[in-house]
Amino acid sequence: MPGFKMKPKKRRRSGFYCDKMGFEFLAYKGLETGSREVVSHVIKQDKIIFAFESSLNPGNEEMGKHLIKHGDGVKDIAFQVEDCDFLIKTAKERGAVVVKEPWVEQDSHGKVKYAVVQTYGDTTHTLIEYMGPYKGLFLPGFKEPLFEDCLLATLPAGGLKFIDHIVGNQPNDEMVPVSDWYEKCLMFHRFWSIDDKQIHTDYSSLRSIVVTNYEETIKMPINEPAPGKRKSQIQEYVDYNGGPGVQHIALNSSDIIQSLTFGTGGSLISSLGYPSALAPPPTTLTPTPTPAHTPV
Ligand SMILES: [Fe+2]
Repeated sequence: MPGFKMKPKKRRRSGFYCDKMGFEFLAYKGLETGSREVVSHVIKQDKIIFAFESSLNPGNEEMGKHLIKHGDGVKDIAFQVEDCDFLIKTAKERGAVVVKEPWVEQDSHGKVKYAVVQTYGDTTHTLIEYMGPYKGLFLPGFKEPLFEDCLLATLPAGGLKFIDHIVGNQPNDEMVPVSDWYEKCLMFHRFWSIDDKQIHTDYSSLRSIVVTNYEETIKMPINEPAPGKRKSQIQEYVDYNGGPGVQHIALNSSDIIQSLTFGTGGSLISSLGYPSALAPPPTTLTPTPTPAHTPV
């Protein structure tokens, strides 16, 4: 379940994913629900959930500092877990930096435990543990969405199913230490690895190690640049991002043509601009992969 942190116009940006990609509004929190620091619009399509968030007050350091340093980009990748305390204790013992110790939030629908751990660059992982069945729309504090897109009922399904993988780009020689961190601190294992002989163009090369959780429901390719005729696309990302960070979120589709032509009246011709339209509008992104039935 990814969430997007941004400022301003989060409603319009969440609407973009509804109008162009077939998401529906799921939940909301903001001043109307008693949330005085953060406003959040949550959208959903099959197993994919995005939460678009923005600060309500000036001086929000968590969002502001990240936007100043990195511009638009991913801030956090959250995982649903079975035992938050155990994972945080283990990660700490193995050298992980814990940004926020476990805490609990609850409302009339149930109780949820959270914790936040640091990963590459300024990226973090939020761990989310449901302490019993949660009967609310999303998470404690969230209420009915403020908006409903009346056009959606007239459109075909978007065809997007789940988050396939989330890529983290690293500077040179950082791929192995970062993938080792996932193996050591979050008990992931290597799923696949490739070198620059396999992924390259005439000018740009990269190396990648894909790490995954025990049940292999979460895929996290960790990339680094490799020498080529010109600067690697990975190094270009790192330069423009101001350090390592999340490069892209891949979404599984049951029918790529259907997903590509969503919102275009079914015309591939009018969807030719889609790849550029797909680039997320300016935003700071907080992705949370789909729930995994694993320790992490
Ligand atoms: Fe990818």
